[in-house]
Amino acid sequence: MEIIIRPDPAATSEMAARIVARLVRDDRRAVLGLATGKTPLRLYAELARMHRDEDLDFSRVTTFNLDEYVGLPPEHPSSYHSFMTEHLFRHINIGPARVHVPDGMADDIPACCSRYERYIRESEGIDLQILGIGRQGHIGFNEPSSSLASRTRIKTLTETTRSDSVEEFGGVEHVPRHVITMGIGTIMDSGMCLLLAFGKEKATAVAQTVEGPVSAMVPASALQMHEHCTVLVDEEAASELRLADYYRHVFKQKPEWQRP
Ligand code: F6R
Repeated sequence: MEIIIRPDPAATSEMAARIVARLVRDDRRAVLGLATGKTPLRLYAELARMHRDEDLDFSRVTTFNLDEYVGLPPEHPSSYHSFMTEHLFRHINIGPARVHVPDGMADDIPACCSRYERYIRESEGIDLQILGIGRQGHIGFNEPSSSLASRTRIKTLTETTRSDSVEEFGGVEHVPRHVITMGIGTIMDSGMCLLLAFGKEKATAVAQTVEGPVSAMVPASALQMHEHCTVLVDEEAASELRLADYYRHVFKQKPEWQRP
């Protein structure tokens, strides 16, 4: 794993945006895996700015979102469809046919999940998967005890995850209990994973992910087995890393051409 510690969420997000933009410039047909939540907001704002000010072209990019709430139609203001439209898609030149978000309203959820996996395969796989992390170490909504080989499927949210979404729903009683999420196996098939985390409340999950044992109890720890995973965190999220000084040292030694 490559662990990069930046001073704050702004500097971290700018670096993440440079990594995504480089891929999109090198390969106009890039396939991006996208996350929702608070963590990627600055990254998406920066990509939108790069589109506006630097002609970053998304017209041939394809995207797959990690997850969606079961029972929410795309137009629901708290759906991840709406989130993505609001924070990224309406600000860039990506066509609706190239955008994929799981269908939270599907009658046949297993069939919808298999279709999602098929669409990813038909797009020749995800080149770069953007990830946030839950306080209990989830990626996507693969909650603790998820199979590390899992594929896209329905999952039941933990009460910790539901309580983290209270703001968007205006009360815990309105937060859905189920989601469709890409599996850990699906995420692990991506060419590169870019995990972002900010703030003290993510510090334990980040330390367990990077320095703990690989365990289904911390699903993000599966990323230790990924060939090309970059963990990009701010100082607060890095505060429980035992080898933080070593990671800083490694980054300082990188030749200029290798730096994101
Ligand atoms: C969202 C997702 C989740 C979030 C995680 C962190 O699509 O897959 O794993 O990335 O729950 O959420 P925030 O960023 O709101 O702290």
